[in-house]
Amino acid sequence: MVNVLFVCLGNICRSPTAEGVFRDLIRREGLDTVIKTDSAGTSDWHIGEPPDHRSQEAAKRRGVDLSDLRCRQTRAEDFEEFDYVLAMDRRNHAALSVLAPKGRIDRLHMFLSFAPQLGLTEVPDPYYGAGDGFDQVLDMIETASAGLLDHIRRAHLGDGSG
Ligand code: 4NP
Repeated sequence: MVNVLFVCLGNICRSPTAEGVFRDLIRREGLDTVIKTDSAGTSDWHIGEPPDHRSQEAAKRRGVDLSDLRCRQTRAEDFEEFDYVLAMDRRNHAALSVLAPKGRIDRLHMFLSFAPQLGLTEVPDPYYGAGDGFDQVLDMIETASAGLLDHIRRAHLGDGSG
């Protein structure tokens, strides 16, 4: 089993979107029995809430259902449970690097490091911005999800072709 955790600040916009997009991708590829997904926020502001309605609507337009997801906060144990802890931006990467137990920091990555072709480091926070931010977030997440799956296939699933 390969365990993947997506992390942003609120766990109501970017990281549940990434969880939903990546979950659908691995289901389509028949890999949902070998890859497990979750998402969490570094803040405690929205614990128990479903994803922001704007994120849900933008995802729904691309056929991705986020309605079952609920916000939780990150915890140090996530670095034991998850092989990949993927930060959406530098602020969350910094918070996670403080949370990570010694010896587990190698599990922490910037999510967009799996989409080097984008030339970007961060998935920008769409919460306070214009409405089209949610679609831009989805574009980045779709690209990085494909790159992440390619990486996992090569690193863990014995697939040398990808
Ligand atoms: P997220 O976006 O980190 O992508 O879930 C945010 C959601 C809520 C807030 C900030 C960012 N907030 O300030 O409540």
